[in-house]
Amino acid sequence: MTDDSTKTLRRRFLVGSTLGLGTVGVAGAAVPFIGSWNPSAEARAAGAPVRIDISNLLEGELLGPIPAWRGRPIFIVRRGAEALEALNRDPDRLTDPDSEEPEQPAYAQNEFRSRMPELMVLVGLCPHLFCSPTPHIELRPQPFDAEWNGGFFCPCHGSRFDLAGRVYSGSPASRNMEVPPYSFEDENILVIGIDEENAA
Ligand code: FES
Repeated sequence: MTDDSTKTLRRRFLVGSTLGLGTVGVAGAAVPFIGSWNPSAEARAAGAPVRIDISNLLEGELLGPIPAWRGRPIFIVRRGAEALEALNRDPDRLTDPDSEEPEQPAYAQNEFRSRMPELMVLVGLCPHLFCSPTPHIELRPQPFDAEWNGGFFCPCHGSRFDLAGRVYSGSPASRNMEVPPYSFEDENILVIGIDEENAA
C-alpha cells in the first residue's frame, strides 16, 4: 500500500470512528469523560457544548465532518509548519485575508484563524448556500485549479477556501468559513461551544 493510500485510509478511519458520539473521541482513544457529560442529540442540536478528544489527531490529518455543535458539522485539522507557512503566500487571491468580517471569535481573528496555530477548527458549511465543502488537506496544486493548493472545495457551485477556511476571490461565497466558539479543557480535549463569551 502506498503512503498516500495509507494516509487516506487513516483519515477515513478517523472520521468513521467519531460519528454518532455525543462526546467525540479520535480513533480508539480512551474517553473517560463520556459518562459524566454526554449530551443527547436534542441537547447538541440546541447548542450544548461538545467535547472532542484530539489526542490521536496527528499533523496533516483531518477530523470530520463531525456532526457536533448545533447540528452543524465541524472540521478539525492539525496543520504542520509547511501548511502554516503556505497560508500567507498569496493573500491577494483571498477575498478577506485578514478576516475582517465577523466570521470568527476575536481570538481567531489572526493570520491562522485559530487559538493555536496548528489546530484549525471550522464549521464545515459553505457560507454561500450552506453545502458541505470537501476537504483537500494535502498541500498540492489541485487538478481543477493548479493555482489553488488545497483547503476546502464546495462542490455545489465551486467555492474554494484555504486551510484557514478563507475564501478565494471569484468564488460564489463572499465570506470566509465560520470558526465556532471553542476552548480547551486540557491539551487533549477541545470543547466546541464554550469560550470566554459563551460560558456553559
Ligand atoms: S453552496 Fe458552496 S458554492 Fe454555493
